Amino acid sequence: MNLEELQSFYDFSGCTALITGGAGVLGGEIACALMGCNANVVILDRDQELAQKVIERFPKDAKGRAARVFGDVLNPESLQQANKTINAEFGALNILINAAGGNHPSATTKPDLSFFDLPLDALRHVGDLNLLGTILPCQVFGRGMAEREEGVILNVSSMNAFRPLTRIPAYSAAKAAINNFTQWLAVHMAQNYSPRIRVNAIAPGFFLTEQNRSLLTEKDTGELTARGKSILSHTPMQRFGNPEDLLGATLWLLSPASAFVTGAVIPIDGGFSAFSGV
Ligand SMILES: NC(=O)c1ccc[n+]([C@@H]2O[C@H](COP(=O)([O-])OP(=O)(O)OC[C@H]3O[C@@H](n4cnc5c(N)ncnc54)[C@H](OP(=O)(O)O)[C@@H]3O)[C@@H](O)[C@H]2O)c1
Repeated sequence: MNLEELQSFYDFSGCTALITGGAGVLGGEIACALMGCNANVVILDRDQELAQKVIERFPKDAKGRAARVFGDVLNPESLQQANKTINAEFGALNILINAAGGNHPSATTKPDLSFFDLPLDALRHVGDLNLLGTILPCQVFGRGMAEREEGVILNVSSMNAFRPLTRIPAYSAAKAAINNFTQWLAVHMAQNYSPRIRVNAIAPGFFLTEQNRSLLTEKDTGELTARGKSILSHTPMQRFGNPEDLLGATLWLLSPASAFVTGAVIPIDGGFSAFSGV
């Protein structure tokens, strides 16, 4: 193998990638990177204006085609409709990235909201969004991969899947379930359809985004909260992640460079999960 061959792994010309939650911070960054690597990129999200803003960030000289499509990851009919649109416009889908997900403040314990009082609808929303919101797109978009006997699926887990973080029980449990489902689907696809269908996940550590800003920084001053300080003191690299920190591992998992990797969950966390605290 030579450098040219290695580099060709990261040329996604002719591949079509769908990113659920692609209008979000992390999904949007992955979308831009794939576009820069010549893929056709489809952003699936509920807010089409935000999706369009991501498309406007795409490299102007990109060789692939870009599109946005409405979809709610908890609504199978909307996903089926999106699948029809994508098939008509791009043909077969090669890559599915499940980046829609997140926590919700109403499912987070606080001094005035104990675990015992967390509302059912909040717990259900966070559990469903992260777990079912990953499983349902795999059903709808994975079917074509099973029929064609090839494809790549990448789920987005989190640090708290390995060891739960305080205060966010539903989010932690749902991300742990994503790790388990990633392994399950990897085995299922390889054994029943094709070893050329790979299913992996990334587990981002702490990235300062809208979802967690209020947990990590003080609203008025922007100073770190006690939780934000505690995270940094448990992160050997001593910083939060930047969205572009995800790209190397993500592109590797999507590319033929990881052809023998399936069922893996890769931490991208500045060493957080490796550090015992001592
Ligand atoms: N940020 C971090 O530090 C961090 C760390 C570990 C893991 N993660 C995970 O990384 C993924 C992306 O996070 P992010 O920080 O980029 O969050 P984000 O900016 O909130 O992006 C999530 C996107 O998903 C969309 N979405 C939510 N519900 C949806 C639904 N039912 N159907 C379709 N789209 C929906 C959101 O759109 P709306 O605006 O319509 O809600 C948003 O565009 C999530 O799974 C998150 O749990 C994030």
